[in-house]
Parts: sequence; structure tokens; C-alpha cells
Amino acid sequence: MLLEMKDVSVEFTGMRGSVQVLKNISLNISKGEILGIVGESGSGKSVTALSILRLLGNNAKTSNGEILFNGTDLLKIRTKEIQALRGKKIGMVFQEPMTALHPTMKIGRQLAEVIERHRAVSKKAAFRLAVQALKDVHIHDPELVAAKYPFELSGGMRQRIVIALAMAAPPDLLIADEPTTALDVTIQAEILNLIKELNNKNDTSVLIITHDMGVISQLCQRTLVMYGGEIVESGSTNGVLKNPKHPYTKALLNALPDLADPAQPLQAIPGEIMDLRHRPNGCSFAARCSIAGEYCRTHQPALVEILPQHYTACWKGEKEQND
Ligand SMILES: Nc1ncnc2c1ncn2[C@@H]1O[C@H](COP(=O)(O)OP(=O)(O)OP(=O)(O)O)[C@@H](O)[C@H]1O
Ligand SMILES: [Mg+2]
Repeated sequence: MLLEMKDVSVEFTGMRGSVQVLKNISLNISKGEILGIVGESGSGKSVTALSILRLLGNNAKTSNGEILFNGTDLLKIRTKEIQALRGKKIGMVFQEPMTALHPTMKIGRQLAEVIERHRAVSKKAAFRLAVQALKDVHIHDPELVAAKYPFELSGGMRQRIVIALAMAAPPDLLIADEPTTALDVTIQAEILNLIKELNNKNDTSVLIITHDMGVISQLCQRTLVMYGGEIVESGSTNGVLKNPKHPYTKALLNALPDLADPAQPLQAIPGEIMDLRHRPNGCSFAARCSIAGEYCRTHQPALVEILPQHYTACWKGEKEQND
């Protein structure tokens, strides 16, 4: 297993006390696998990604659990060691490509610097590899683009370059947090193909975070569904999308007019998203769930294997199986 996150909880402390935003998150990614995380805004997807890289900031406390990366607990290593892993062993692509690029440095130089930092090569060789990296993300005039500044390029081009930067080491794991949200639909599809291609070519594992079930269905072998900082369902993408077991996953899919259309954003489902400051005693989805009973409101369901390799945290799901 390349990445094994076990029972990780995260709390943020602010002026008004502390809020638990992740609750006992466990997930794993094997070599070459593409894992997707889907869920509404505020469900804890980005916090999950940032907790792996230890980029949560000073007001965050990661309690319990472990995050094993190639067997090393990322929560235990020194700051220097985690810094050395970022970019080299774990590449990152975030939603807004501009923030990842240095605004006043030419593209070629930015890439060459990253390559020099992560591989033992000369300056000249690094520049050659930078041009090759641009070719690998299907940039047609790599020499020309290498001589440009980020502001001279379109959003789609910039996101390709961010991916080239993230893949430059190349890393064992790529974490992509909403990598296509800011882009228009045709560019979105190209970027997704690119991620798939790089995953194929280098056997890089990918953790992809999205609002978009279309992205999940196109790219991911396995999918996790998050709600209120917890994983409520996980399984093969096919299993989760074709045979959802959790009422939240069902609601998300029902709200989707056409799963085959990758342009479909996640629709809102009825009810308000959970207030993390007031976690209910029972199931966190009970307040919005159409089949929840009294037991659901007072008892917390654990994630259980309802079908082989298909897990759900729902009392009703279990019951269905047992009846
Ligand atoms: N630095 C922070 N300090 C305090 N609270 C935070 C911080 N970062 C995130 N949160 C809170 O943690 C919760 C989960 O946020 P997160 O960014 O992981 O959601 P998300 O699922 O990525 O949502 P989106 O789809 O909108 O990106 C939210 O309630 C958010 O307000
Ligand atoms: Mg997010």
C-alpha cells in the first residue's frame, strides 16, 4: 500500500472554540491506483488532502491516527522531512492554477528549478527535462511556452503547467484538489485525460478531489463519499455509482440529471449541510435523510462492509442486508 490513512481526526481552534472537521478518516491508495473523494462543499475533502501534506496551518490539530506513506508515518516525521517529500514524492495540483505558479518567473525556469531540486541533474539538463515535461503535458510549442510568463497563458495552459510541475519529480502520489473546476468543459476533459495518461505512464497513484460525479466516473477506480467530515460510503466506483448504499450518495446521484455528462456539477440536495459545531449524537446525515428513524438520530453508525469491498455508514443499509 502506498498511502494508508488510519483514523485521522482534525480539529480547528478559533476564537469561538474548536470544531472537529474530520472524524476518524481512514483511506488507502495502492500503487498506480486512482482514488476519488466526492462530497458537498464543506464536507472536509480539502482538509483531508492538506492533512496528508501537513499543510493545515497552526490552528489545526491532527489527533489520533496515522498517515503511512510507503510505511513512514507522515504525522511523526520532522518538518524538514515532510517538506522534502512535498513536490518530490507527493505532487500537488490545486484548483486555482495561478497560485501554484510564480508570477514573475518564466515557465521554463520554474520547471527547471523544480527538476533541479528533485533530481541530481545539471542546470542545462534540467532545462532540457523542463521542455520535455511541457511536451509530456501536450504543449505543442514547448520551447516557446518555456520562455513565457504565467500571465501570458490561458487558464487551461496554466493548469497543464501546474500538472507538469507536480509531475516533474516524478512523484509516487499526485494529489489533485478540484483540478478542473476553474476550467471550461472541453479543457476539463483534456486535463482529466492528461492525469489518466500520466498515471498510466509513470504508475503514479492519484488522489482526486471533486464535486463532480462525472470526473469520478471517468477517472477513478475507487470512490469515497464524504459528509460532515466523515466517510459515509466507499467502494469501487462502479459499485458506488451503480449501486449506492448510503442515502446521501443516493441523494447526490438522484440530483444528477445525467451521469454520463461530465459537465454536470453536483446539484444541491434538500436540507442544510451539517453545522460542524453541533455534531449530532447519532448519524450525521439523519437530519436530511428521508429514511432515518429514531435509532439513527441517537446512535452513530460505523462504516461496515455491506457488500465485498463496499462500505457504508448507515443503520438502514445494514438492516436491509440482514432482513
Ligand atoms: N484553516 C481553517 N480554519 C478553520 N476552519 C477551516 C479551515 N479550513 C477548513 N475549515 C473548515 O473545515 C470544513 C471542511 O472544509 P474543506 O475545505 O475541507 O471542505 P471541502 O469539502 O474541500 O469543500 P469545497 O468543496 O468547498 O472545497 C469547513 O467547515 C471549513 O470551513
Ligand atoms: Mg475543497
